Amino acid sequence: MKDIRSKAKELMKGSCRLCPVCDGRACVGEVPGMGGLGYAFRNNVAALSDITLNMRLVHDVREPDPATAWLGLELSMPVVAAPIGGTFNFNDAVTEDDYIHAVLDGCRAAGVIGCTGDGVPSVIINSAVSAIKNAQGHGIPFIKPWESGEFDEKMELAIASGCPVMGMDIDAAGLTTLRKMGRPVGPKTLKELTKIIEKAKKAGVKFIVKGVMTVQDAYNVVEAGADCLVVSNHGGRVFGAAPGTAQVLPAIARAVRGKISVMVDGGVRNGADVFKMLALGADIVGMGRPVTIAAIGGGSEGVNTWLTMVKNELVQTMILTGCRDIKAIDEAAIFVPQR
Ligand SMILES: Cc1cc2nc3c(=O)[nH]c(=O)nc-3n(C[C@H](O)[C@H](O)[C@H](O)COP(=O)(O)O)c2cc1C
Repeated sequence: MKDIRSKAKELMKGSCRLCPVCDGRACVGEVPGMGGLGYAFRNNVAALSDITLNMRLVHDVREPDPATAWLGLELSMPVVAAPIGGTFNFNDAVTEDDYIHAVLDGCRAAGVIGCTGDGVPSVIINSAVSAIKNAQGHGIPFIKPWESGEFDEKMELAIASGCPVMGMDIDAAGLTTLRKMGRPVGPKTLKELTKIIEKAKKAGVKFIVKGVMTVQDAYNVVEAGADCLVVSNHGGRVFGAAPGTAQVLPAIARAVRGKISVMVDGGVRNGADVFKMLALGADIVGMGRPVTIAAIGGGSEGVNTWLTMVKNELVQTMILTGCRDIKAIDEAAIFVPQR
């Protein structure tokens, strides 16, 4: 990873400083770029570092199994590459095509699945859709909540990619830069959301709504018929006053348990962080910026190397907490100070 990181630093030319801890401090306000707005990016990382785990060593868990099934997919661990689009955010370090191929291929090699992003330049969705087609549908395209017919057009493209699952990052409604560029995005009513999800279901594609930060929104997303929601504040890029995702996850997961699958992303930096999110109630965890760095510095091999490292860390955390498989991970693993 050392070589991969130094190559990424060189290619990203200051758009990412490759800090020892990727916590949003050095890059605050850098959107577009790799940063976040206000405190939200920092809140994601801080919320996770505030959580510690109970160490348990008197047990027989020597070879825990990190594999999981999610939305009909068999994965080597409960991790996906979060959707990241727009190589202009990282100084056009590589082409959009090379970037998204590296993410999808690296994820597949590691036994997981990558998501793709969307934005104003059409190269983002076009590269995403063609990479998913090349990967025989092994990718999850996300589309922004466009206000115009652009949403329907891009949804058709996503469905035609052969993907089994697609999504919408509803929190991108906070990306004011898009409106300024004459391409408005906005919130969706429950009725609008329901219609979108019905259309995906009719085409045989499962649907994810990304950007849920309250229990009320989670209930609405369940009512609209989604298969999965993502507890996410877009990596702290859309609303500087948002809490960390690990702070809101437990209440949301408790409220919708058994009704919908729950994904979370934001500030996840290693296998222990993945474990913490699972213990807080997530079924699956998204990793954003670290995967981008691995893809730029090492292509698909870099992504595979990074994800394999995360899997090893997750397995090690499962041994140190006495969890035999993913189902065994719950809030009992979280340390609560006692007097
Ligand atoms: C440069 C950049 C571009 C992003 N583009 C998208 C996108 O196109 N669609 C989307 O749903 N989320 C997008 N995101 C948000 C990520 O999917 C994810 O929520 C976030 O990066 C998770 O936080 P982390 O990077 O701290 O892991 C983007 C994030 C970054 C940093």
